[in-house]
Amino acid sequence: MVKFTGYKKIKTAVFISGTGSNLKSLIKFSKIIKSPISINLIISNNPEAKGLKLGRINNIKKKVFNFKKKYKVENQILSILKEHEIKMICLAGFMIVLSKNFINKFRGKILNIHPSLLPKYKGLNTHQRVLNNKEKYSGCTVHFVNSKLDSGKIILQKKVKISKNETKKSLAKKILVQEHKLYPKAILKTFNL
Ligand code: GAR
Repeated sequence: MVKFTGYKKIKTAVFISGTGSNLKSLIKFSKIIKSPISINLIISNNPEAKGLKLGRINNIKKKVFNFKKKYKVENQILSILKEHEIKMICLAGFMIVLSKNFINKFRGKILNIHPSLLPKYKGLNTHQRVLNNKEKYSGCTVHFVNSKLDSGKIILQKKVKISKNETKKSLAKKILVQEHKLYPKAILKTFNL
């Protein structure tokens, strides 16, 4: 666990692949006094990721990497993280599975948000699978990242009720609203705040 002494915010990088609505909520959170983190770097595998524009708006450095040569790229990222004194990583809609080597270098310091009530529905296409199985509830989970997909220690979860005429789209939207509240709460919890 990263220790927050209350004097300096913990420099954090957020990894994204798409819209970046969780990134947006994390940036907003990072600016309040009680936040133990500051967002100092945005990393993406996707040059078209909409969330990248949040870097420009908020004056946060952003870097895009092509993950075709994953091992090499991860090592480049590790040196950039070091250069920027990044001590914590938040994955927020980042659709690349990081290698064991990378995760071990940041052990206990990488968080992820997943749109299901883990350990149920790990992986992709979560909402459709939940609906296919006629679940009554779904939700979202913030967890520590370990080398197994969506399997690290759970920090916090939020349950949502599935409505009668729920669609994949409406469910995603409903859960996303909760994700934006859950991620900051989970960060506070990891710092015992
Ligand atoms: C979020 O619902 C997040 O939980 C999910 O992608 C969406 C990203 O939205 N992540 C995963 O599915 C990871 N396996 P955003 O780009 O608007 O934050």
